[in-house]
Amino acid sequence: MTPAIAFLLAMTFLISIGGIFLMVWGLANDQWGDGEEAAKVIFAEGELGREEDPALTGVRRKGIQKEHEEGDLNIDEEELAERRVFDRSGRTPVLWWLSSSIVWLLLGSLFGVVASIKLHVPDWLIQDAVLTFGRVRPAHLNVVAYGWASMAGVGVGIWLVPRLFKTPLLGGQYATLGAMLWNIGMFSGTVAVLGGMSEGLEWLEFPWFVDIFLVLGGALAAVPLLMTILRRRVHHLYVSAWYLIAALVWFPMLLITAKLPLFTGVEQAIMNWWFAHNVLGLWMSPLGLAAAYYFIPKITGTPIYSYSLSLIGFWALALFYSQVGVHHLIGGPVPTWLTTLSIVTSVMMVIPVLAVAINHHMTIYSRWRMVLSSPTLRFVVAGAMMYTFASVQGSIEALRSVNVITHFTHYTVAHAHMGVYGFFSFILFGSIYFILPRLVAWEWPHIWAIELHFWLVFLGFGIYFWPLSIGGWLQGTAMLDATRPFMDSVLLTMPYLKARSVGGSLMTLGHVVFAAHFILVMRRMGPASDAPPKLMQGFGKRKNVEVANGAKS
Ligand code: HEM
Repeated sequence: MTPAIAFLLAMTFLISIGGIFLMVWGLANDQWGDGEEAAKVIFAEGELGREEDPALTGVRRKGIQKEHEEGDLNIDEEELAERRVFDRSGRTPVLWWLSSSIVWLLLGSLFGVVASIKLHVPDWLIQDAVLTFGRVRPAHLNVVAYGWASMAGVGVGIWLVPRLFKTPLLGGQYATLGAMLWNIGMFSGTVAVLGGMSEGLEWLEFPWFVDIFLVLGGALAAVPLLMTILRRRVHHLYVSAWYLIAALVWFPMLLITAKLPLFTGVEQAIMNWWFAHNVLGLWMSPLGLAAAYYFIPKITGTPIYSYSLSLIGFWALALFYSQVGVHHLIGGPVPTWLTTLSIVTSVMMVIPVLAVAINHHMTIYSRWRMVLSSPTLRFVVAGAMMYTFASVQGSIEALRSVNVITHFTHYTVAHAHMGVYGFFSFILFGSIYFILPRLVAWEWPHIWAIELHFWLVFLGFGIYFWPLSIGGWLQGTAMLDATRPFMDSVLLTMPYLKARSVGGSLMTLGHVVFAAHFILVMRRMGPASDAPPKLMQGFGKRKNVEVANGAKS
């Protein structure tokens, strides 16, 4: 074993050990003493059973609206009023992180569509080096991964902090500064990659000086989390808090390790995939799961199905995930024991995934109809289902017999989008629908725009994912068939690549609708709400707008 591989394994070990230390701290501080009761910590007194955020169409809207107005549920109104103040306490930093993420979403999607079209119209936009595939593709990946997904994830995470700890956000100015630095990093990194200044490693293309901004920005975003934890008014750290803390500790560790000038040749490839896969598993997944574990029970008014299971899921992720990345190098010139280790841990990931899947799906089971009436729930539940799908698919894809077909094909790209888009981005969309009205005290003005956004991205993603997976599989089998010329495996993918461009364009259109709607709320167009946002009663009709505005809280 070379020193560089030993170092990587040590870092992996450190991540797991960090998890064990947290577990010991939790035991010592009686974090598990409350058992299943702890799941109720996110509700106000008397709030259990009451739904939050029912919106969109349907008869239910009227019923729930009536319930809110009659206020016959014995809820601690003082606590609700206090929560409204907490909700707005992170207004400036959260708006910085979220608004910036939406700008990057639009830009990243545009790069994605351009890169996609180029794969079936290869002579398009080749006069200028800036627009060649080799530059647009990494620009797309970095902009969507670090600009959109990461910034939106941090914004959602910061907003959740006061809700989880029942305390106003402290130190928000550090997170605002963090967003500014992160944006500077994103801007310079994107210009650098488009200008040809890339480090040449996937997911790590930004030059080293850009990463300084990202590490500092991320570290500053963690400050309010730590400051608010110390002043929290609840003893128990709800499972979402564990995920948030872990994500904000793991990401800087990953980025700093990956950028150390220790790795060359094959070791560099090992480090590259250790990092890239951990960005999904130890950064995006915890942020997405933190949001899902909050919004699904909170909106349905039902505590999480099995709180103990949720904690088992968290610790299993902390212990198993950090070694899975090397499955990207199966069949490559790396030690067999290393790939075998990563295959074993990839399969072991079934444990935390099932824990999360059972919990999310069983919590929503008796309330599944609410996905028809709540935009947040519709996006978040779709995202949670795609988390299960992407994770189980990933464990199967890591098996040597399957990987031999899917490796080096478009199948992997489809799988990557199932994770970063289907799971994480859907949860982020849903979370933003919940958060923004509470942050700026202004309703989403057009229910039809939320519906349109959902269907454009849902159908668009279906058209993206399924054809690309089928095309990728056929491509893999064609490449393995020694009797067929290599060009067969290229040509047969053409219709599937075209389908991807259609699906990707629909997704991009959905993002434009979402961004335009976001701007309307920011510009305070449409109905206001000083009460808990209800998003109900057919906006646009004067009478109903008054109901929304005047509703007692
Ligand atoms: C928020 C939205 C999106 C996210 C988070 C996202 C994420 C990603 C990721 C993680 C990769 C790397 C995949 C890999 O190497 O295995 C990637 C590549 C790619 N994405 Fe996206 N993507 C998004 C939207 C889009 C859209 C709208 C399109 C339009 C068709 C698109 C087209 C592509 C293409 C063409 C590649 C390169 C594939 C290749 O090299 O073969 N993406 N994207």
